[in-house]
Amino acid sequence: MRRLEGKSALITGAARGIGLAFARRYVAEGARVAIADIDIARAGEAAAEIGDRAIAVELDVTRQESIDSAMAEVVATFGQIDILINNAAIFTAAPIVEIDRADYLRAFDINVAGTLFTLQAVARHMIENRIPGRIINMASQAGRRGEALVGVYCATKAAVISLTQSAGLDLIKHGINVNAIAPGVVDGEHWDGVDAFFARYEGKIPGQKKKEVGDAVPFGRMGTAADLEGMAVFLASDEAEYIVAQTYNVDGGNWMS
Ligand SMILES: NC(=O)c1ccc[n+]([C@@H]2O[C@H](COP(=O)([O-])OP(=O)(O)OC[C@H]3O[C@@H](n4cnc5c(N)ncnc54)[C@H](O)[C@@H]3O)[C@@H](O)[C@H]2O)c1
Repeated sequence: MRRLEGKSALITGAARGIGLAFARRYVAEGARVAIADIDIARAGEAAAEIGDRAIAVELDVTRQESIDSAMAEVVATFGQIDILINNAAIFTAAPIVEIDRADYLRAFDINVAGTLFTLQAVARHMIENRIPGRIINMASQAGRRGEALVGVYCATKAAVISLTQSAGLDLIKHGINVNAIAPGVVDGEHWDGVDAFFARYEGKIPGQKKKEVGDAVPFGRMGTAADLEGMAVFLASDEAEYIVAQTYNVDGGNWMS
């Protein structure tokens, strides 16, 4: 049985990586999906590859007019939005004494303000149209504790966990469930960048950091986007109706909370 039959989903940052894997899986589960990304060329390729149940939408989560126009486009095409996955984010890292203010502001603008104001726009649409919607925010194990060289990214993901709690508590009275997923280390282009950063700052050879973090996962390897799909489907499904304001670790055992 397909678990998202007839649902419409908006997934931010879905042109590649985890968001794209979620888009493919949601379509397989019967949903229609808007692949919303700042990289519209790549979003277009992704939608074309998935087929006629996917559309590409240009979205920069740091600009309110872009959120509003992307929303309008998706509603005009699908009629309504039942599911939002707030997935767009950037990784940034630097030792504390080298953190750059512009870099800090950009990370918070995309990862935190982008999450909040996309959530707000979709929640308004769901409330106005009495849609018992589902909102899933992508947090991270980085939001569970600090990391010496990753202070800003960790702080943005801690903020995502906190916003998930507040929005979850506020919106459940409208029948909107807000929850989050906290992945551990997930292989892909995002982690290629993380690996390159640690190669520079810790004098590692390319690929060494990935091997180290994979070996350290209790499960025995890095995660893949496919490892997260089950949770993304479950949280959007009817079975998750009683789950409110939670953040679930899907990380091979890296963190317990
Ligand atoms: N990969 C991991 O190990 C990992 C671990 C924990 C959490 N996460 C989180 O999971 C999510 C997806 O991670 P990923 O590895 O697929 O990342 P990714 O870097 O591969 O993809 C992020 C996408 O977001 C888009 N994006 C960037 N800025 C944007 C903006 N302003 N507006 C709209 N789109 C924008 C990018 O174009 C890209 O397509 C992120 O929230 C990330 O923080 C990832």
